[in-house]
Amino acid sequence: MKQDDALIQVRSVTKTFAGAGESVTPLKDLDLEIQRGEFVALMGPSGSGKTTLLHLLAGIDTPTSGGIVVAGTDVARLGARALAKWRNQHVGFVFQQYNLVPVLTARENVELPLLLTRLSQAERARKVQVALEAVDLSDRASHLPRQLSGGQQQRVAVARAIVAGPELILADEPTGNLDEKAAYGILNLLKELHARFQQTLVMVTHDPRAAAAAGRVIHLDKGRISGAAQAEVQA
Ligand SMILES: Nc1ncnc2c1ncn2[C@@H]1O[C@H](COP(=O)(O)OP(=O)(O)OP(=O)(O)O)[C@@H](O)[C@H]1O
Ligand SMILES: [Mg+2]
Repeated sequence: MKQDDALIQVRSVTKTFAGAGESVTPLKDLDLEIQRGEFVALMGPSGSGKTTLLHLLAGIDTPTSGGIVVAGTDVARLGARALAKWRNQHVGFVFQQYNLVPVLTARENVELPLLLTRLSQAERARKVQVALEAVDLSDRASHLPRQLSGGQQQRVAVARAIVAGPELILADEPTGNLDEKAAYGILNLLKELHARFQQTLVMVTHDPRAAAAAGRVIHLDKGRISGAAQAEVQA
């Protein structure tokens, strides 16, 4: 991996949430680089700003100050429309609560990111099929989310995150809602997809075993990165 091949560059980023009362600053002068193709686990106590950081990387939220460049684009400077388009092309997001649309089938949920592209219906159907196969759910394509187990719903969410071929996958405690067996299944799936498609994967987790699967662990604490232990070996 080339050292200068950074997919993500975070430059002295501060994020302050100003409320009615006290303001909160979960991220303070944060600097961070993530190389293309890396699998990074993001850890830290509750409230340390892990979700906030992921949202900034995805352009779901903007920093109070500082710069965020992802895949050559300064995401903090894009307008809402351009940002939505950019995100759709470059980022796949996996949420702890799956966030599937309840009235759409697994197949339709996975197709959602493709509806904003110029692909034909046949091309979309083919990509959806490939993504559902990648998460081993082709046989559940016509099921609604409520007809699927938690682990299966999260597989659908992973398929939705990868279907458009984004170079960055962001996962916020993707195994947090699952029992041990299902959690292990999702973790293995993410590992396997990362190895197969070589995307950059940033995963928030509280699970030391999940972190052990990553190439690098970043610890967030009190707005800063602490002891960014670099485990070079893939577990
Ligand atoms: N939209 C918001 N408005 C106001 N405060 C917010 C907002 N989002 C997050 N915060 C605050 O910022 C801090 C960091 O929140 P964040 O969700 O990033 O933590 P986290 O590390 O993901 O925690 P957890 O492990 O519990 O998910 C918290 O104090 C939270 O209350
Ligand atoms: Mg969080």
